This record gives sequence, C-alpha cells and structure tokens, in this order.
Amino acid sequence: MKSPTRKIAEIVEPQAVVEGAGVRLKRSIGGHALNYLDPFLLLDHFQSTTPADYQAGFPLHPHRGIETVTYLLTGAVRHRDSVGNTGEIGPGDLQWMSAGRGILHEEMPQVRPEGVAGFQLWVNLPAKQKMSAPRYQNIHSSEIPIIERDRGASVRVIAGTVDGATGPITGIAAEPSYLDVALAAEGSLVLPIPLGHSAFAYLFDGEARFGATERTLVTAPRLIVWGDGGSVEVHAEKKPARFLLVSGKPLNEPIARYGPFVMNTPQEIQQTLRELQQGTFAQ
Ligand code: CO
Repeated sequence: MKSPTRKIAEIVEPQAVVEGAGVRLKRSIGGHALNYLDPFLLLDHFQSTTPADYQAGFPLHPHRGIETVTYLLTGAVRHRDSVGNTGEIGPGDLQWMSAGRGILHEEMPQVRPEGVAGFQLWVNLPAKQKMSAPRYQNIHSSEIPIIERDRGASVRVIAGTVDGATGPITGIAAEPSYLDVALAAEGSLVLPIPLGHSAFAYLFDGEARFGATERTLVTAPRLIVWGDGGSVEVHAEKKPARFLLVSGKPLNEPIARYGPFVMNTPQEIQQTLRELQQGTFAQ
C-alpha cells in the first residue's frame, strides 16, 4: 500500500530571541509555540549584516546530552572547545557536534562586510548515548553532494540520501535527513520521508506551496511541521524558494531540559550542575 503524502500539521512563526552574549535570532523550535519536535529540541536562524546583532557571539558554554548542528550560509563562525578542537566554518560548511557527556565550547561569528547567516539545530541523544564521548563531524561545503532535479529543484544533501546521493554526516542515532533545498520559480519537489519520522521544513527565503492537495502558500520565514506520511511535496510559483527539509526518528523518551543540558530526569540535571560547580564537568 502506498503511504500517504504528508500534510501540514502546524505552521510556526519564528520568534525573536536574544541568546549567548547578545545575538539576535529567530527561534522556531524550542520556544513557546513549539517546545519539542522529538528528536529536535531547538532551531535558531541567524541572519544579519549589522555587527551589533551578532558580534558578541556565544562565549564559552557547556552542553550535555544533545547534538548541536551549525550550518552556515554566509560569513564565518570561529569555534574552540574543551576537547582541543579549533577552527572556522564558512559559507556552506556544517558542524555536527555530539556533546555526549560534556563539552565546553565557544562559537563566535566573525564581523564581515557580508554579515552572517545560518542555523543551529539541536538534536536529542537517546538515553544510552547521553554520556558518550564527545564527537565532531566538520563538513566542508565541497563535501556536500548537490542533486539537480529536472523540475527546478536543487538539493544539498547534508545527511540522508536523495536519488542515490548520501550526505557526509553519518552514524547519528536519530537517522536524520538534513537537506538544503532551492526551488526555482515554478519549480517543485517530491521527496520520500520515512514513515513515523518527525519532519519539518524551514522556509527562509521566498515563498512556496507546501503539501500535495491543499498546497498552502507560505512566505518566509516560517517553520512548517509535517504530519506523518511517506513523502512531501513543495511547489514554488512566481517566486523562488529556499528551505531546509529535516527529518529524524523520534526517541519517545522523557526529557529534562535546563538551558544547554538535556537529560532524561531532573536528577541527571542536578548531577550535571554539581559537576559544573565542582569543576569536574567535561574533565
Ligand atoms: Co553551543
């Protein structure tokens, strides 16, 4: 039996928030409207050419129990951490960081004439991996395959597989697909998504119709949460559109959330805070 095409379950208007040492962001997952889309804990979109909006950055801070995924469209972000990694990601690059039992890092957008633009997604880790060793996957733009479809769709495959091309991010518990899709005017895209996986599109440029039958017209910036089904459809009309299309397997585990820490129980959060106080965190 053919599984149904996914319909829109919810459209979320991103909320303006200030994070880190004073970075202006648009938050669409992890806020009041949509706190959790299992396994996705947070989605922030940053985009500015005004240094005051981003230059304070994210000075040294901890993470435990989650993965942070930074994907840059414009500009540069320098990073440094307690495991000894240091580097800079540029346009089209991505960093998939599994904090596991603990990491301290800083993420600093660099002041450039073109400003900075990109996304940070938080992916939850299953209970059995929350205390694993930290792990990094740093992906250069040139390593990301681009699939050109004949109906005006261009897809950068960061994680998952499209038309036989598999993205460079591997070995992630959530079995994610992470795609950056550009639709030309009048272009369209139909893509399979595993049944039962949570899925969203984050439209950050232009406008498009989402869904196969109702085809709701959505204008950027919006988060589109898909209902369940075996595929999604997006159609551009007079304007081109660009969006992230992300899916992952829900964990269906309890969560205890406190800032940059996401565990399964309040006791595990208390333990994390004790380690921070005692200076044993990420040692
Ligand atoms: Co961080």
